[in-house]
Amino acid sequence: MKLCKLDMTIGKICCIGAGYVGGPTCAIIAHNCPSIQVTVVDLSEERIAQWNSDRLPIFEPGLDDIVKGCRGKNLFFSTDVKKEIVEADLIFICVNTPTKNYGVGKGRAADLKYIESAARMIATVSTKSKIVVEKSTVPVKAAESIANILKANVKPGVKYQILSNPEFLAEGTAVKDLLQPDRVLIGGDQTPEGHEAIQALCWVYGHWVSKDRIITMNTWSSELSKLAANAFLAQRISSINAMSAICESTGADVTEVAHAVGMDTRIGNKFLKASVGYGGISGFGGSCFQKDVLNLVYLCECLNLPEVAEYWQQVININDYQRRRFANKIIESLFNTVTNKNIAIFGFAFKKDTGDTRESAAIYICKYLMDEGAKLHIYDPKVEEKQLITELTHPAISDDPSRVKELVTIHKDPYEAANNTHALVVCTEWDEFINYDYEKIYGSMLKPAFLFDGRIILDHQKLMGLGFNVITIGKRLQRPNVHRPYAQAPAQ
Ligand code: NAI
Repeated sequence: MKLCKLDMTIGKICCIGAGYVGGPTCAIIAHNCPSIQVTVVDLSEERIAQWNSDRLPIFEPGLDDIVKGCRGKNLFFSTDVKKEIVEADLIFICVNTPTKNYGVGKGRAADLKYIESAARMIATVSTKSKIVVEKSTVPVKAAESIANILKANVKPGVKYQILSNPEFLAEGTAVKDLLQPDRVLIGGDQTPEGHEAIQALCWVYGHWVSKDRIITMNTWSSELSKLAANAFLAQRISSINAMSAICESTGADVTEVAHAVGMDTRIGNKFLKASVGYGGISGFGGSCFQKDVLNLVYLCECLNLPEVAEYWQQVININDYQRRRFANKIIESLFNTVTNKNIAIFGFAFKKDTGDTRESAAIYICKYLMDEGAKLHIYDPKVEEKQLITELTHPAISDDPSRVKELVTIHKDPYEAANNTHALVVCTEWDEFINYDYEKIYGSMLKPAFLFDGRIILDHQKLMGLGFNVITIGKRLQRPNVHRPYAQAPAQ
């Protein structure tokens, strides 16, 4: 075991927050470090009960086997937050850092109340020295706030070192990303004690990550690197989505443009897929990109860098524009009204291979269509009904939950969802959508039948051959039978 000058060995790790990051990260640590006891704690009894059950609270390919292999041996899930903090040598803080929805910085700043409460809990109960690792995504200098809280409440003989170790996993590929990370980033104080703590965490990762992929730096660089990485990824998606609008107005095909651009080795071909909005590899959505770019915008404003803030804000604006543009396209194509029309929505998760719906483009497409009185028939292979309704009845999406009940039907079968509808909208790029029997689906829909492919995943020529009017992103297909009496732009 690694000895470090804080007079401790890393025998026990506690992770505060059993979410999309805390659960998988600790499962991978336990899997690779049999000598370390890893306990993930959370205030939510429901979440912990799910982690201890056969049905884990999150879906990630490969995760079930890893959790089942270590659970009860060196991996534990508990609600006894205090006890696990007291016993731990190293604590990961993996709590949520959502965008603030109140007060100063509302709608942009990261809400750090969960981080603060975790830090206060550590300060209150700890009786021995600890390394505290900030894994949640936070604004630059959040580690300093954690250090201030801990130091202000320090007990005799107890020392803390605060490290920044941001997480880069992507939902849907979390296990692969954690097992073979592009890089592990560890930031800490540039003091002998800080270096000792950094080395202790390097030792943990060193069980399965090669040395050249573990990079160390000062705490602020580490914190900013996470925000910068997400901002660069979101910016690429907004860039290709901006191109998709030009393609639709000119006859260029965004897939061809992305291919040509991506072959430039200076640019590379990843994260260049246009779509309806953020969502992992194909547009942005999910809990992170939007909130982290907003967080960066707020940080720039606080640092009195308005031009920089404006630059990053535009990345968000293009994402909002893309969702709105796609919804408008649906409405225009359906003869400028969707009121009382049945529309099937295929996919509600923010991207494939996850059940996570946070900031999913589907939420906004559904909102815009519900605002126009459309009747939605939603199918997603992984998203639970309760979760879906929670998203659509959120006050930011709908001010009348009874209206959502009236307009939304959730289906367990995609063919049932599409039956008797005027249009089908693909919002998530689930692989199973590609191989459905679209002849059968076309036969069960009202005519003319419209298909809107918001993820550019289907065989459009084949679908048009079946009789569908197909509309996608970044490409003009056939001229659908569109009646646009008020539109000023040329018909597509
Ligand atoms: P999450 O919302 O899934 O999980 C956070 C958990 O922390 C919740 O279960 C909540 O009950 C728990 N929690 C909050 N305060 C607590 C406290 N004081 N004591 C005990 N438990 C507490 O969040 P997620 O997605 O795991 O994200 C965590 C952090 O990691 C965020 O800062 C996020 O930005 C970042 N991140 C998320 C990624 C993702 O793909 N979801 C990827 C990389 C970073």
